[in-house]
Amino acid sequence: MNYRHHFHAGNFADVFKHALLLQLIWAMQRKEKGFLYLDTHAGRALYDLTEAAQGDSLARKAEWPDGIGRLLGATDLPTPLAEYLEEVREFDWQHGNADTTPRFYPGSPALAQRQAREQDRLALCELHPDEFLALRRALGVFDRVGMHEIDGYTALRAMLPAPEKRALVLIDPPFEAQDEFAQMAEALREGLRRAPQATFAIWYPLTARARVDAFFDELLGVRLPPTWVAELEVAGENSGVKMRGCGLVTINPPWQLDREITQWLPYLAQCLAQGPGATASLRWLVPE
Ligand SMILES: C[S@@+](CC[C@H](N)C(=O)[O-])C[C@H]1O[C@@H](n2cnc3c(N)ncnc32)[C@H](O)[C@@H]1O
Repeated sequence: MNYRHHFHAGNFADVFKHALLLQLIWAMQRKEKGFLYLDTHAGRALYDLTEAAQGDSLARKAEWPDGIGRLLGATDLPTPLAEYLEEVREFDWQHGNADTTPRFYPGSPALAQRQAREQDRLALCELHPDEFLALRRALGVFDRVGMHEIDGYTALRAMLPAPEKRALVLIDPPFEAQDEFAQMAEALREGLRRAPQATFAIWYPLTARARVDAFFDELLGVRLPPTWVAELEVAGENSGVKMRGCGLVTINPPWQLDREITQWLPYLAQCLAQGPGATASLRWLVPE
């Protein structure tokens, strides 16, 4: 487990994932009834962006300027992106940064915890001991927030179905393992068996198109309920950019959220473009 998310915090992939995550949470909260937010690969919740340029041995190029940094410079953000940015700025400010250059960036557990209502519950899994410690420190003690130093994939078996009968599950692994796509498909199979109505959001990197298409084929073998895939490409296929995009598979998505997201995804692609061919799309893998 060498992956450290703090090198990537606030990059284009985080912007895409976290903006969508907020939309999912807010859509779930349109119903009064509480739900379980299960984050299988939670990370440390609080990232200091000044550390992003300090590698373990060599300096490295910080990624956040081409992510959250681009949004900070924009003047015409669509409302959902402006709301996400507001969350990020408020978090930064509340952690003591009064500067205009962002410093403290919220990970998915922090974003979810900030939205949680009294009737919602969070289960956050993080396997790396240092990251887990940092997660505990960042979130402190809250009622209805459980933090677990376990393999997040096992949580699907241990924590579903949720007693609340409603759940939003974020699966956001580091993709260090060669068989991560296969592990995700297997975990999803188990998750859906236990909680067929739960909403699952699965993040993946777009490095090789063929690997992603093979993953979709595997997912279709799981007999999925309604599912859409949102994808962001910050550069085209021949750009030479290694991770040139990412996607979020959303299973049992909240009703009509696809229509809202489709309205601002193209803006995001334009804003975060790193080369010709930047684009974004949402398509149904399994229609409603
Ligand atoms: C991409 S990061 C998570 C980022 C976080 N979800 C966010 O959006 O802010 C992946 C995290 O998973 C952790 N991790 C790796 N393998 C894991 C496993 N099997 N179970 C739980 N956590 C794991 C890593 O230590 C890392 O912190």
